[in-house]
Amino acid sequence: MSAMHAIHAEGLRKSYGEKLVLDGIGLRIPEASVFALLGPNGAGKTTAVQILSTLIGADGGEARVAGYDVVRQADDVRRSIGVTGQFAAVDGLLTAEENLLLMADLHHLPRREGKRRAADLLERFDLTPDAKKTVSSFSGGMRRKLDLAMTLVGEPRVIFLDEPTTGLDPRSRRMLWELIRGLVEDRGITIFLTTQYLDEADQLADRIAVLNGGRIVAEGTSEELKRRIPGSHIRLRFGGEDQLDAAARVFDVAQRDPENLALNIPGDGTPGTVRAVLDLLDAARLEAESLTVHTPDLDDVFLALTEKPQQPVPAL
Ligand SMILES: Nc1ncnc2c1ncn2[C@@H]1O[C@H](COP(=O)(O)OP(=O)(O)O)[C@@H](O)[C@H]1O
Ligand SMILES: [Mg+2]
Repeated sequence: MSAMHAIHAEGLRKSYGEKLVLDGIGLRIPEASVFALLGPNGAGKTTAVQILSTLIGADGGEARVAGYDVVRQADDVRRSIGVTGQFAAVDGLLTAEENLLLMADLHHLPRREGKRRAADLLERFDLTPDAKKTVSSFSGGMRRKLDLAMTLVGEPRVIFLDEPTTGLDPRSRRMLWELIRGLVEDRGITIFLTTQYLDEADQLADRIAVLNGGRIVAEGTSEELKRRIPGSHIRLRFGGEDQLDAAARVFDVAQRDPENLALNIPGDGTPGTVRAVLDLLDAARLEAESLTVHTPDLDDVFLALTEKPQQPVPAL
C-alpha cells in the first residue's frame, strides 16, 4: 500500500448479525484533500468512519490511515487523527477555553503549550470573544466550531467529520465549510467527511464516493459523477426542419425536440465526445446553430444511484 495516501483501504467488510453493512469497500484518499462519503441514512457511513478511526474492527479487508495499519498500529493511527461525531462531544458545563484545555490535557501537552494551542484555535475559529462562556449558551454552529477546534488540539494529520453540518442553519454550514477548506489549504490536513447533503459534497469535496447497499456505487469528482449518469446530453439546435431531420438520421440514438429545432444526443461533455459529434456533423455537411452540454446535477446522480440496489457503475 502506498504511503502517498492519507487513507488507503481495500475490501473492508462489516456485518452486524445477519445484516451486511459494508460489502468490500476500497478507498484511496490523497493527502491534503477533502473526501466525502455520501450516502443515505443507514448506508454504513458511520461504520466506515468507526473502522478507519480504530473504534471498531472490520470483519475483513485492511486499511491504512496516515501510513499506519488500523489494526496492527492502532495507537499510531489514533495519534494521527481527529474525529468529530455526528453529535458534538463538547461539555456544556465547561467554557470553550476549558473544553480546549481539557483536550490538551488528554493529549498530555505541557500546560503552556496547551494554553497556546487553545488560544490559537479560539482565535482561528472566531471564538475568542466567547472563550469564557459556558458552552451550554452556544448556538449549534458555535458548538460544531468548538468541536472541530477540539479535534485540532492534537494536531491531527487526518480528520474524520461524521455529518459535520447536520441540523445547522445554512449560514453556519457555510462558515464550517470555510473552516474545513482552510484546514486543508493552510495545514495540509486530510478530511474524511460523511454527509447526506449533496451540496456539501459538491462544495467541499475534491472526491466523492457514493455508498449504497454496502458498496461504493460511484466515485469521482462531482463533475465526473454528474457526467456519468444517464441524462447527460449534448444539445444541438438547427436553423430549419430539414437540417434537423438530416441530423436526426446521422445521430440515430438522439431524441428530437422538433418544437425547438433541437436534437438531444445522449453522452457526456468531454472534449472527445463533443469533437466526435462535430466531426459527424461536418461529414454530413450539416451545421448546427448552437451546441450546449447538459449535465445533470448531483441530486440526479444521488437519486439514480441510491434508488434501487445498484450495480457498480463502471469506472471512467
Ligand atoms: N452497533 C451496531 N449494532 C447493530 N447494527 C448496527 C450497529 N451500528 C450500525 N448498525 C447498522 O448498520 C447500518 C449502517 O449504520 P451506520 O453506519 O450508522 O449508517 P449511516 O452512518 O450511513 O447512517 C444500519 O442499518 C445500522 O442499523
Ligand atoms: Mg451515521
